[in-house]
Amino acid sequence: MPDVRSICAIGLRGQMGLNGSLPWEGNTDPEFTADVARFFDITRGHVLIAGEKTIGAIPDFARNDRTLFVIRRDMQPEKVLAQFPDRVVFIGGGPVAWGAYAPFIRHWDINRLPYDGEADRWFDPQWLTAGGPG
Ligand SMILES: NC(=O)c1ccc[n+]([C@@H]2O[C@H](COP(=O)([O-])OP(=O)(O)OC[C@H]3O[C@@H](n4cnc5c(N)ncnc54)[C@H](OP(=O)(O)O)[C@@H]3O)[C@@H](O)[C@H]2O)c1
Repeated sequence: MPDVRSICAIGLRGQMGLNGSLPWEGNTDPEFTADVARFFDITRGHVLIAGEKTIGAIPDFARNDRTLFVIRRDMQPEKVLAQFPDRVVFIGGGPVAWGAYAPFIRHWDINRLPYDGEADRWFDPQWLTAGGPG
């Protein structure tokens, strides 16, 4: 099995997404730009698996120095992860993907940003304590 990790950013109440983008999209305050830069640094060279919308939002400059893999609801997490032995695999979202892959994640990297507006995608704290697979 690979080393399965997760990286995400949340607002003050667990906000994660709005209208298909990050809720704080376009905010150029240092905390927000540093978060995006950190995401690309930490995932560089590794595997990033996520839903189609999330993978689709990865900009061109970050597509060649990491392995991107789109996960579908009919794929078994065990089988997806088994394709990447000896790699570090980051689960990159969206929320349904974290729900499905949470039992396999051993390391969570959650950046809490100073955003308190609306959202239509939310962090679920139960992911952190999802029982082991099987
Ligand atoms: N704050 C953050 O750190 C962060 C990170 C990532 C995304 N986001 C935000 O989240 C939103 C995008 O996420 P999203 O969930 O809307 O779209 P998404 O990234 O496309 O993820 C949803 C897709 O995941 C696939 N999937 C894989 N395993 C699944 C399972 N077990 N059950 C159901 N679906 C599964 C499905 O694909 P199929 O329909 O093809 O089967 C589903 O359509 C955006 O607003 C984005 O900005 C935020």
